[in-house]
Amino acid sequence: MMEETLRAYKERLEKALSDLPMEGAPDILKESMRYSLLSGGKRLRGCLLLSACEMAGGNIQDALPFACALEMIHAYSLIHDDLPAMDDDTMRRGKPTNHVVYGEAVAILAGDALLTHAFEIMAQSAHPSAFQALGEIARAAGISGMIAGQTLDVTMEGSKPEKELVEKIHLGKTAALLTAPITAGLMLAGASEAQIAAGREFGMHLGVAFQIVDDILDLEGDPALMGKTLGKDQAEGKLTWPACVGLNQAKADAKQHIDSAVSALVPFGKKAEFLQALAISTLHRVQ
Ligand code: IPE
Ligand code: IPE
Ligand code: MG
Ligand code: MG
Ligand code: MG
Repeated sequence: MMEETLRAYKERLEKALSDLPMEGAPDILKESMRYSLLSGGKRLRGCLLLSACEMAGGNIQDALPFACALEMIHAYSLIHDDLPAMDDDTMRRGKPTNHVVYGEAVAILAGDALLTHAFEIMAQSAHPSAFQALGEIARAAGISGMIAGQTLDVTMEGSKPEKELVEKIHLGKTAALLTAPITAGLMLAGASEAQIAAGREFGMHLGVAFQIVDDILDLEGDPALMGKTLGKDQAEGKLTWPACVGLNQAKADAKQHIDSAVSALVPFGKKAEFLQALAISTLHRVQ
């Protein structure tokens, strides 16, 4: 049931993403952008946005440009995350990373282009809550959100893993871009302040759990399923949750965060069932 709904959201999103015209981009830039944007991926952020909007009675068609924008911002964050100056990774979504194929200069530009184009697409929306949703997404992607987390992630590498710092990194680099789809989707549905606050609580717990599980999968996941090189976090001195509290406690903490996420959506009643089931499924993910 949850899987079927998820598949339907994903199909809708894939079509919208592959139909993006990207007019005016030089061929090599367009190719590099599309290489990373249309290369698979779970599409979690886009699907979260579509389902949050529907949960509060909104229209999926209104939400689609914002869901595409979230996936573009996410794709840009992955291209830059994989660069030699950052995590220096050569595999992503089962394929060579963008800079391995197109070179660092074009990869950096494709990332820049995906970020900028995401805002161009959101700015074309005539929805009355478009500006509010765009602001929400900008804040999440920006200096107190994803970029803050990535900055701490790369500059604090090798330091002592303290819970408070690692949680701050996780809230920034990952939870911000998993919370914005929920809050922006709710805004596009005209949800109340209280509903948006509940959605924010859900997104933050889901996001932290998602990164804890990513850290766990780096230790014991299957690289073929994950589509990326695993086992590097420890060697690089990355500040991960298992490095802080150990593997078993990390698993218990991820579950605790998902329990809190599920509880946060109780005010939405039965309409929250899809998002609650999706959150629980991230605990057992293998990719
Ligand atoms: C990878 O995100 C980066 C993290 C925040 C852990 P996903 O695991 O959602 O990557 P895709 O989009 O499915 O490839
Ligand atoms: C990445 O965290 C978060 C962002 C890209 C913003 P990681 O560096 O742990 O993600 P993976 O493991 O490379 O997917
Ligand atoms: Mg990283
Ligand atoms: Mg990385
Ligand atoms: Mg990781």
